[in-house]
Formats: sequence, C-alpha cells, structure tokens
Amino acid sequence: MIEVENLDIGFDNVVLLEHLAFRVEHGQVFVILGGSGCGKSTLLKNMMGLLQPIAGKILIQGTPLKIQEGDPPPFGVLFQSGALFGSMTLAQNVSLPLEKWTGLDDDIIDTIVRSKLRLVGLEGFENYIPAELSGGMKKRAGIARALALEPPLLFLDEPSAGLDPITAVELDELILTLNRNLGTTMVIVTHELESILKIATTCIVLDRDARGIIAEGDPRVLRVESQDPRVVNFFNRQAAGA
Ligand SMILES: Nc1ncnc2c1ncn2[C@@H]1O[C@H](COP(=O)(O)OP(=O)(O)OP(=O)(O)O)[C@@H](O)[C@H]1O
Ligand SMILES: [Mg+2]
Repeated sequence: MIEVENLDIGFDNVVLLEHLAFRVEHGQVFVILGGSGCGKSTLLKNMMGLLQPIAGKILIQGTPLKIQEGDPPPFGVLFQSGALFGSMTLAQNVSLPLEKWTGLDDDIIDTIVRSKLRLVGLEGFENYIPAELSGGMKKRAGIARALALEPPLLFLDEPSAGLDPITAVELDELILTLNRNLGTTMVIVTHELESILKIATTCIVLDRDARGIIAEGDPRVLRVESQDPRVVNFFNRQAAGA
C-alpha cells in the first residue's frame, strides 16, 4: 500500500527524521510511535502530500503521491485536531467530500451519508452539530467523513487523544471493525499503550535524537524482547500509566 524509501523530512533547514524506510502492507493497522515532538504528525503530513519531503520517495499503491486538482486523494484523514465544521450538522460535514469530488445527486449523497454515520454508530445524529456531541462521537463523525469516499487507506493522527479510557477503547474497537470489515488499511499515530497493543498489526518507533526509526515490528514482541533502552523505556513508561 505504501513504500517509503530513504525519506528525509523536516522544515526549512531543520531535518527532523532522516533515511526513513518502511512499508505498509494492504490491510495492516500500521502504528507510528515516538515521543512528543519527534515528527510523527510531520511524517503523516508528508505521507499525505501536505508537506514536501526534503529527500527520498513515498509511493502509494506503487505511484508517487501527487495530489491533482480534480482528483480526490486516495486516502481519508482524521487530523490530530479533529476539525469538523462547527456550524454544520454531522450530515453536512460527512457530505462535504461527496459534494466536492462526486457528481452524485443529493438524494444519493444523503443515502451514503446516512450509511457512513450508521457505520460509526451515529445513526440518528445526522442533524446534530458537533457542539452537541461528546468527544468520542466527534471523533467517530470525523471517521465517517474520512470514509465518505470509501478510501482504501485511512490516516489517523492520535484518534483517542483527549478521550476517557472507556471511550478510547470503543474507538479502538471501531477502528478494528472497520479494518476487518472494510479491509481499510490504517496508518495511526498514537501514544496509548493499551491501544497500540490492541490494534497494531505492526509499528515503527521514532526517536527525536536518533532522527529515525529505532524499532520496528509487532509491539507485543518489541515490548518483551527489545534490548534497546529507549524502546524498553517507551513501553514501560506507558505501562506505568505516565
Ligand atoms: N509548520 C512547522 N514549521 C516548523 N516547525 C514545525 C512545524 N510543525 C511542526 N514543527 C516542529 O517539528 C517538530 C515535530 O512536530 P510534530 O508535530 O511532527 O511532532 P509529533 O511527533 O507529532 O508531536 P506530538 O506527539 O506532540 O503530536 C516539533 O519540534 C515542532 O515544533
Ligand atoms: Mg503530532
């Protein structure tokens, strides 16, 4: 699904991460880990074509990503900051990509919008505005909007940030259900250990000082087998509830 080759990313004269190389396979839940400020969101934005790499290559389904005017992106996105339009109903929010990228009639769009909201457990909330919903419901609505065009790939930046533990677990379950039932490949940035261990097919651990990937693989295996003190520390600090 995604191939990253010898990628350097950052801003202006600052290289945050360099010589990144990894693959995301079809159908995986691929998790990006690392301390705050190491460049996880920046990496995601490079993978989405919102930022230009300093060097190297990113291929999505075998071709370099180029967002073309007139073509919808080949993925859906849930940004770290959420970003539903507050003055619009959930139905209007979810219909935006359909109106922008498809020439479908309003009644067909309406049917699709309802089905996407049902998919994330928000049937009956079509006419609510975001301020009338809980944090978890807003996240689910954001996922419904990201799925509107039925992308094969979804990017999620800290989906459970700011949610209480029970709501976070429900969101993890939704992500896994969508991954299994729709086959959507997921690339997820998250800090939550419980979430990582539950949903990840595989992960990469980024490190700011090393400016790169310090571990890669199944997090359940890394957690018990890694000899790298930085990786051990990452998993243990999380396990201690800090
Ligand atoms: N637009 C920008 N211009 C310059 N520097 C930036 C910009 N956006 C982010 N940075 C810097 O790049 C570094 C990495 O930021 P990024 O948001 O990718 O980190 P992160 O790993 O996602 O952190 P967090 O876990 O807190 O979300 C930070 O030092 C940040 O200040
Ligand atoms: Mg971030």
